[in-house]
Amino acid sequence: MNIVLMGLPGAGKGTQAEQLVEKYAIPHISTGDMFRAAIKEGTELGLQAKAFMDEGKLVPDEVTIGIVRERLAQADCEKGFLLDGFPRTVPQAEALDSILEELGRPVEHTINIEVEKDELVARLSGRRICKTCGASYHLIFNPPAEEGKCDKDGGELYTRADDNPETVENRLTVNMNQAQPLLDFYEAKGVLTNIDGQQDIDKVFADLDALLQGSRS
Ligand code: AP5
Repeated sequence: MNIVLMGLPGAGKGTQAEQLVEKYAIPHISTGDMFRAAIKEGTELGLQAKAFMDEGKLVPDEVTIGIVRERLAQADCEKGFLLDGFPRTVPQAEALDSILEELGRPVEHTINIEVEKDELVARLSGRRICKTCGASYHLIFNPPAEEGKCDKDGGELYTRADDNPETVENRLTVNMNQAQPLLDFYEAKGVLTNIDGQQDIDKVFADLDALLQGSRS
């Protein structure tokens, strides 16, 4: 099961990916998570990425493509993978095609989670993340059982550095500019499935799951 999950910031990619990778037992490859891990570790990649992420800009294609190329070549991706937040530009999509052709692992599902801009702003402004496991919550739409603590491991919940109102606005503008050409690229190939992301988290999952199950039967 090789899956590409796309959607604007706050569309619910991470939330859905958490459940999908558990159900389908495939690795979750989130370029955003990879960059945040590199920043935490203080690596050269982290230093490079931080400047762009802090401003809500995209990390340059050559850097992003490089880390995805390395990650997809790892052995655990042989059983499948879920790409979350990559590709985000047409050059990234073209690079992904050639990487997967080299590896002989074609994508089975290219999915776009659709959500309106106002809803995205509301979601990002109330998001909280677990410091330990990275699980995503929302103060109103998906609150933890105990305030400030992760349901899974009791980890402390924090607000992501790029979820402040100014950076959110930049992220949405930057990503919206890139999104249409990317969707057109996949539409032209006839492989894109749009999912209504403006429903309850469980309903979005049910739609995604039905799509993936359909391809299994
Ligand atoms: P990344 O970490 O990928 O962030 P993003 O794309 O901005 O997406 P988010 O993680 O903010 O949103 P999400 O769709 O995962 O939503 P979530 O499930 O958390 O990237 C960060 C940065 O890294 C980028 O800005 C860029 O600089 C760089 N980067 C990453 N990939 C790159 C690439 N390919 N190229 C270049 N640069 C790259 O949900 C959001 C909130 O809504 C949560 O609080 C959640 O609880 C809630 N929620 C989720 N679903 C629902 C629902 N159905 N109803 C109500 N609430 C919901």
